[in-house]
Amino acid sequence: MIKVKKVSRNFGHIEAVKDVSFDVERGEVLGFLGPNGAGKTTTMRVVTGYLEPSQGEVHINGVNMQSDPEAAKKMIGYLPENAPVYRDMHVLGFLKFVAAIRDLKGRKASDAIDAAISTCHLEHVLYQSIDTLSKGYTRRTVLAQSILHDPPVLILDEPTDGLDPNQKYEVRAMINRMSKDKAIIISTHILEEVDSCCTRALIIAEGKIIANGTPDELKKISPTSNTVVMKLAGCDFESVRDSVGQIPSVGRVLKIGEGDGSITARVFPASSHSPAGIAPEIASYVVNKGWRIIEIYPDPGKLDEVFRKITLNDMKKQGNDI
Ligand SMILES: Nc1ncnc2c1ncn2[C@@H]1O[C@H](COP(=O)(O)OP(=O)(O)OP(=O)(O)O)[C@@H](O)[C@H]1O
Ligand SMILES: [Mg+2]
Repeated sequence: MIKVKKVSRNFGHIEAVKDVSFDVERGEVLGFLGPNGAGKTTTMRVVTGYLEPSQGEVHINGVNMQSDPEAAKKMIGYLPENAPVYRDMHVLGFLKFVAAIRDLKGRKASDAIDAAISTCHLEHVLYQSIDTLSKGYTRRTVLAQSILHDPPVLILDEPTDGLDPNQKYEVRAMINRMSKDKAIIISTHILEEVDSCCTRALIIAEGKIIANGTPDELKKISPTSNTVVMKLAGCDFESVRDSVGQIPSVGRVLKIGEGDGSITARVFPASSHSPAGIAPEIASYVVNKGWRIIEIYPDPGKLDEVFRKITLNDMKKQGNDI
């Protein structure tokens, strides 16, 4: 549904996006992650046809954005970073206006507006001037405009930015519901959003894609991926380290917490052993030792560690201050 081929975009001497290529199929939700200024918004602006690429091509469901922008844009719903709304309109007036420019008429228009209002929970502010809406309600109004024409492609730039926790939850659920028959790109700084919404994520830094994978694949890059964390009582760290460290499948044992008569340790697998296997073995070892287990769990790794590890490494490689 979305094909981005070798796209670059410069602003004068600034290379905001450098040779970026990716595809998004129907049923996929692709997450864009990356530090501020990485090029996420610029890439989205090029995908939606809002900006011309300096090089490369964008195809939406086989339609070339550069040669047939009108046909391509009809298939896209876009939630931009900054809300481009007519601030003196009221919410319902704005949605009617959007329905009209999307060429929806009569019953089709009113059904589409009703559906968008109910999905984005705008019932209570329909006649309020957009100027006077809170940040979250303004965001919901722009979100409603992006889904109004039920497009097969959705590009959502930080869709949950400024929303309260209930609305964040609702918007994520809405993205999951809509993902079945759409191709969706979202950008976010909230890494848990990648877990809850995205089938795949790209990490972008300084205009380039530096990682691409499912959330689980990306987590495997985390230094704590497939380690075991255990909080134990009735023992001291040194004896846990010395004896658990003797298990052939175990590598390092690190202390990560202490207090209230308990210690918390992180156990790394030995490099020659399958990381997935060590948790049950360690659990039964600890039980046999008679130490009291407060908690023990395998750690799949954390996206924020992966994000820090690869974006900071990438910036160091390029000689930037961090
Ligand atoms: N219209 C413009 N003119 C000049 N430079 C621009 C313009 N738009 C973006 N840039 C530059 O392009 C780079 C990428 O910006 P972009 O907005 O795409 O980043 P982003 O990844 O969306 O960041 P954020 O997480 O802060 O939203 C930045 O260096 C930015 O200053
Ligand atoms: Mg941005």
